Amino acid sequence: MTEQTAVTEMKSKPVPTLPDAAEVLEVKHWNDRLFSFTVARPQTLRFRSGEFVMIGLMGDVNPKTGKPKPLLRAYSIASPSWEDHLEFYSIKVQDGPLTSRLQHIQPGDQIILRPKPVGTLVVDALLPGKRLWFFATGTGIAPFASLMRDPEVFEKFDEVILMHTCREVSELEYGRQLVETIKSDEMLSEIEQGKLRYYPTTTREEFHHMGRVTDNLSSGKVFKDLGIDPINPETDRGMVCGNLAFNKDIMAILDGFGLREGANSEPKEYVVEKAFVD
Ligand SMILES: Cc1cc2nc3c(=O)[nH]c(=O)nc-3n(C[C@H](O)[C@H](O)[C@H](O)COP(=O)(O)OP(=O)(O)OC[C@H]3O[C@@H](n4cnc5c(N)ncnc54)[C@H](O)[C@@H]3O)c2cc1C
Ligand SMILES: NC(=O)c1ccc[n+]([C@@H]2O[C@H](COP(=O)([O-])OP(=O)(O)OC[C@H]3O[C@@H](n4cnc5c(N)ncnc54)[C@H](OP(=O)(O)O)[C@@H]3O)[C@@H](O)[C@H]2O)c1
Repeated sequence: MTEQTAVTEMKSKPVPTLPDAAEVLEVKHWNDRLFSFTVARPQTLRFRSGEFVMIGLMGDVNPKTGKPKPLLRAYSIASPSWEDHLEFYSIKVQDGPLTSRLQHIQPGDQIILRPKPVGTLVVDALLPGKRLWFFATGTGIAPFASLMRDPEVFEKFDEVILMHTCREVSELEYGRQLVETIKSDEMLSEIEQGKLRYYPTTTREEFHHMGRVTDNLSSGKVFKDLGIDPINPETDRGMVCGNLAFNKDIMAILDGFGLREGANSEPKEYVVEKAFVD
């Protein structure tokens, strides 16, 4: 075989691809528990900012079929619907079936990206209002990272407030940098129109603002700190994304303010989604 035919054969050999494969473009590690990454967006993939999609890697071989089984998990798309790549913000669970492996992906690797985004954290599931609240704990900020960059959000609301609570300061860094970029980037600040307010807190490490989202709402601290009126069902709309206990507790608080839970099929004053399954 000549050198030329060897090269031709190498080139024509099909590159093994996963079903619904998407190529990893960039990976950023925020600390030993959190990372974010971007993948190439399939041209056919349409979604509404705030939706989630199933992603994963090939898992172990199924002994019955002898074929590897996809290992998939729900992930909020953290990039806005207009962006040409898809961004994800992920936990690293050291013994987690998916993230114990996913945390090691590198640019050029492939992940599985199922093509059907869904979810309730979408603007369409809310009645019109003046002020929109994003309530998040931990990686629950991911759907809001998408919505915070969506022009529709700022066209429909006069003020958008992100409350994000984590145990430690380093867990806030992804959100802090994103808000900073939105405020300083020429194109993103035009979308945001100066309407985004950011209220990060920690619960287990000293920080200038501390306390659970729920406690800061119940005590009225957040309204005092931001110099705004309390939540009112006439004007305020909410989106919630955190652990199950957080979601339950904040729903009771929002119900107490007179807001009602809505859905895609029946828009009301607030919507909720789990950030993970316990
Ligand atoms: C609608 C929806 C959207 C989601 N979006 C995201 C997202 O954008 N980013 C993300 O990292 N995860 C998200 N998750 C969680 C995700 O589906 C997986 O659970 C996570 O990637 C861990 O997978 P695993 O296989 O390693 O461990 P799993 O077996 O899935 O989880 C093991 C345990 O780890 C803990 N855990 C799992 N996920 C998290 C988390 N995100 N934060 C804190 N603790 C967690 C829980 O205690 C869970 O029981 C979402 C889940 C749902 C239901
Ligand atoms: N974050 C870490 O440093 C860490 C380290 C090792 C293991 N883990 C494990 O990872 C899993 C997820 O941890 P996580 O920190 O990402 O998420 P998490 O436990 O959901 O906590 C994230 C934030 O939500 C707050 N919160 C929890 N329940 C709430 C409720 N009912 N109402 C209002 N606020 C609430 C927490 O406050 P509180 O602090 O007051 O609970 C914390 O500030 C847990 O099983 C944990 O044991 C976490």
